Amino acid sequence: MTDRSGPTSDRLPMGSGAGDSLRDNRTIQPIPEDAVPVMEAVGVSKGFGATTALVDVSLKAYEGRILALLGDNGAGKSTLIKILSGVFPPDGGELRFHGKPVTFSNPGQARQRGIATVFQDLAVCELLSVTRNVVLGREPQKWVGPLKWLDLKRADAMARSALHRLGVRWERGLEERGMNISGGERQSLAIARAMFFGSSLLILDEPTSALAVRQAGRVLDHIARARDEGQAVILITHNFRHALSVADDLTVLAQGRVAGTFRRDQIELEELTELVASVG
Ligand SMILES: Nc1ncnc2c1ncn2[C@@H]1O[C@H](COP(=O)(O)OP(=O)(O)OP(=O)(O)O)[C@@H](O)[C@H]1O
Ligand SMILES: [Mg+2]
Repeated sequence: MTDRSGPTSDRLPMGSGAGDSLRDNRTIQPIPEDAVPVMEAVGVSKGFGATTALVDVSLKAYEGRILALLGDNGAGKSTLIKILSGVFPPDGGELRFHGKPVTFSNPGQARQRGIATVFQDLAVCELLSVTRNVVLGREPQKWVGPLKWLDLKRADAMARSALHRLGVRWERGLEERGMNISGGERQSLAIARAMFFGSSLLILDEPTSALAVRQAGRVLDHIARARDEGQAVILITHNFRHALSVADDLTVLAQGRVAGTFRRDQIELEELTELVASVG
């Protein structure tokens, strides 16, 4: 296993190599020695019957940093983030949230701790309006006589402010339904919802895979915005360009094992490609 993410290295961003034009020009800061990860997986393993999905996997996600989780089909990426999101427990190993061991019995418990996960297919409810999608689960209510109703004015204001915070220019009506908006807009809405909920860890599973270049760029901007607001972000992607353009750190999974963890300025595109294809 390779680990170059530690605080000791002071290498500067590299100026050559095929991947470099893809990188934004931020200087990636080393992780402070005393920083406690928002989320840490320690030696996590998981199997499904005869299939071994994860073996002794460890990763760390820090406040104000984007960790790209890379790996081939079947490498175990989704399984890992489902464990981090409380969808199912690990068979072995431990999760630590803000330095303390934690177990989740269901996704609701993870959400309550401030872990917001955007699953690619379930990002947005098709039948709900833009506003309802953003405030989902925290709808402001008002009493009308003996009945409680959604306070639509407040809900619209909340949705507008969440979208504004993210830098989304929403020109159509907030009453537009989820099914009528594009894949990129859906991802942005889901990210707005995660930010609105004040999560401390945002996990995105392949948010750009179905998107055209421009839309993907916008979604990546929104992810960077969430990071700049101080969230820890775990971004799963198949796309090295996307990973290299926004990530601070990268963890590569190969056949259920960690093949390496790097700071973004310490790895070349070629090396990433080789690692992803490596036998774990
Ligand atoms: N619910 C499940 N039941 C049985 N096997 C599963 C289940 N979920 C995942 N697996 C298996 O675990 C392994 C890891 O799958 P996982 O979905 O985590 O990979 P992935 O890295 O997300 O792949 P992809 O890039 O294709 O999304 C695969 O062999 C997969 O077939
Ligand atoms: Mg997956």
